[in-house]
Amino acid sequence: MPTATILLNPTETHHSLTIAPPASGVALQGRIRVPGDKSISHRALMLGSIAQGETEIQGLLLGEDPRSTAECFQAMGATISALNTDRVTVQGIGLGNLQEPVDVLNTGNSGTTTRLMLGLLASQPDRFFTVTGDASIRSRPMKRVIQPLQQMGAQIWHRAGGLAPIAVRGQRLQPIHYHSPIASAQVKSCILLAGLLTEGQTTVTEPSLSRDHSERMLRAFGAEITVDPETHSATVTGGATLRGQTVIVPGDISSAAFWLVAGAIVPGSDLVIENVGVNPTRTGILEALAAMGAEITLENQRDAAGEPVADLHVRHSALQACTIAGDLVPRLIDEIPILAVAATVAAGTTVIKDAAELRVKESDRLAVMATQLTQMGAKVTELPDGLEITGGTPLTGTAVDSFTDHRIAMSLAIAALMAQGTTTIQRAEAAAISYPDFVGTLQEICRS
Ligand code: S3P
Repeated sequence: MPTATILLNPTETHHSLTIAPPASGVALQGRIRVPGDKSISHRALMLGSIAQGETEIQGLLLGEDPRSTAECFQAMGATISALNTDRVTVQGIGLGNLQEPVDVLNTGNSGTTTRLMLGLLASQPDRFFTVTGDASIRSRPMKRVIQPLQQMGAQIWHRAGGLAPIAVRGQRLQPIHYHSPIASAQVKSCILLAGLLTEGQTTVTEPSLSRDHSERMLRAFGAEITVDPETHSATVTGGATLRGQTVIVPGDISSAAFWLVAGAIVPGSDLVIENVGVNPTRTGILEALAAMGAEITLENQRDAAGEPVADLHVRHSALQACTIAGDLVPRLIDEIPILAVAATVAAGTTVIKDAAELRVKESDRLAVMATQLTQMGAKVTELPDGLEITGGTPLTGTAVDSFTDHRIAMSLAIAALMAQGTTTIQRAEAAAISYPDFVGTLQEICRS
């Protein structure tokens, strides 16, 4: 059987990725694992750093985003072993003991590092911090965390429009009950982390439930935290001592999502993705794909250190269009680019609504997916808060661009498997933010 061409072409500044399936198509087969969950990896490094004693993290994502978190916390006094094996140890320095760094904290491309860390910095009395990141981070909205932190009494300075670079003079804060206008785990987690050092009860209520990894891990580390699922509220009581733990990081469902969609849309595919986190606040992708008629089964369901885990088995099947909107959106927020690819092959018109948040991710994901998929021949209409995609028009290989957004790079690579001819994805190195060996795995399963 002829094999696909999958080639990473490094240049001095950026790498492009060339993908050319043979005319007879490819089938994806095998048993694979995806790297550790990015959200859980950040939180394990952060809580490990502010806890007392040692934290061992198994399965840490060795991508660029967690490296940014590790470097920031090392600069503030935590001892973190080299991020070259997925078993990493953190010697925590204790809550309230983050040292004043001698230089600017650089969060790279990572919104999670930037926003969660700001909650910790704002509550460390008498220390001064400056925070910045790459061009994407310096254009992403930070007011959403700066405003509630200021309501708690935080002293924060920033560029016009609430943009980084940001300066913080830490101090004792007052507890608040914050009603967040958006369902954002980064906003929720930032305020809860600020609440750890704040006397009294700090509560965040969100319009619908966002990922709850912070709540689960804070509880495991010994924080006093309660949740009310009815009102989507979480409350932390300040002053508890956090103690180092063993954290087992499951595979990232947001990374597995590329293979779930690829396995569902590429004829002849049969893939098992082992050890994937299936926390209900993250499994919107499974529900959306089930609604589209995908054949996905959860096997070997188990629990790993407070997070549910399963092996996901996907086989090719004919997909139908669906609607993605409302409370489902926060539960699949990072998977919308790859779901847009699924929609290009599904029968009918898929409507994605209530997803304006995608405009302020690592790139404007609605605009970028609309332009790049249109360039490949898909029928896509961009809406203010979503996309309308009519499936069934064949895709054609062409030059497309990731806009340095990891999830766009990988989504376009999966679209390329369904396209006739050669697709070249510019700036494909972005994938390393959350999935360093994405291309290696793609080569492995296309060959088998
Ligand atoms: C994340 C929360 C989400 C998500 C991001 C990771 C987290 O962002 O898009 O990739 O780890 O808390 P928002 O909180 O801005 O929705």
